[in-house]
Amino acid sequence: MNSITYSIDLSALRCPRCHSDLLLHEAELIRCQGSVTHEFPIVRAIPRFAGETYIESFGVQWNRYEVIRPEMDTVTFHAKTGCWPQDLAGKKVLDAGVGGGRYARLIGEAGAQLVGLDLSSAVEKARKVCEDLPQVNIIQADLLNPPLSESVFDFAYSIGVLHHCPDPRKAFAQVAKSVKPGGQLAVWLYRRNTLPQELINKALRAVTTRLPDSVLKFWSKLLTIPGGVPGLKQTGSKLINFSTFEDKHLRLCDNYDWYAPKYQSHHTLAELRQWYLEEGFEEPRELRPEKAGRLYEWVYDHDLIIGSGVNMVAQKRS
Ligand SMILES: C[S@@+](CC[C@H](N)C(=O)[O-])C[C@H]1O[C@@H](n2cnc3c(N)ncnc32)[C@H](O)[C@@H]1O
Repeated sequence: MNSITYSIDLSALRCPRCHSDLLLHEAELIRCQGSVTHEFPIVRAIPRFAGETYIESFGVQWNRYEVIRPEMDTVTFHAKTGCWPQDLAGKKVLDAGVGGGRYARLIGEAGAQLVGLDLSSAVEKARKVCEDLPQVNIIQADLLNPPLSESVFDFAYSIGVLHHCPDPRKAFAQVAKSVKPGGQLAVWLYRRNTLPQELINKALRAVTTRLPDSVLKFWSKLLTIPGGVPGLKQTGSKLINFSTFEDKHLRLCDNYDWYAPKYQSHHTLAELRQWYLEEGFEEPRELRPEKAGRLYEWVYDHDLIIGSGVNMVAQKRS
């Protein structure tokens, strides 16, 4: 860790066990103010509210692969949240499932006060990536029981995260609660594909999620080959998922990201819209991918693109 002193900002946080306020007790210890005191260590400038459980593959993935591509990340962030990083300057922002910190870095650089939360050891990478941004607070915590105050964030986003929780609906509710009335929440989840695609994927992942890391790494690398072949990449990826990014290293990370995690659920737009309405958000707006073309739109709308998303943003009722 570099010489920057991180002033851990606890203003948006509360005890995940008794919901009372938190205080920095010593440089490396947080204590809650409840009648029974709960303590949480700060290790390598990261408050630790929970430890890695079913989520180890993400720690491996984000610490292993170098995927930060600022220009591309900015465009992707805009496509998946409906706003540009600079729109968030001066705002209190939550990155729910910060991973290796590629979006947290952009938002922190733009001048937001950001909490980046993740359960896996990806937080080590996120802290490193944001090491020169003291207004970015990275915390290790579980979205199913997060140490977040209610109604505190102007903007929250969760990109490709909730479908990796054993209970995505509950995780959505927890994130939604932390948004201020009048604040916004953007969520991107895997789209449910056609039944044959879903069945093939389930069968494949039943094997890949049990593979040793070295074999999974090899499988992910093997799948970078069809992802780089014009023609094959458009058609083959409709049968089984493999990444089609131009950049081979991104394809490798993306393939691992698909085949390694224990939990992976797929959702419909109607389902996500319903979640927003149930949590008190108004008129959820669909965010569509920026790839143009009528054929792409057609296959997208017919749920044929494996790995594509359902993506919405909405404002919380004031
Ligand atoms: C596919 S990654 C996405 C990371 C980041 N949003 C991005 O797009 O670069 C999913 C992340 O969700 C995190 N995650 C999954 N379940 C979680 C939970 N219950 N609590 C906190 N983080 C969780 C994983 O550790 C992982 O880093």
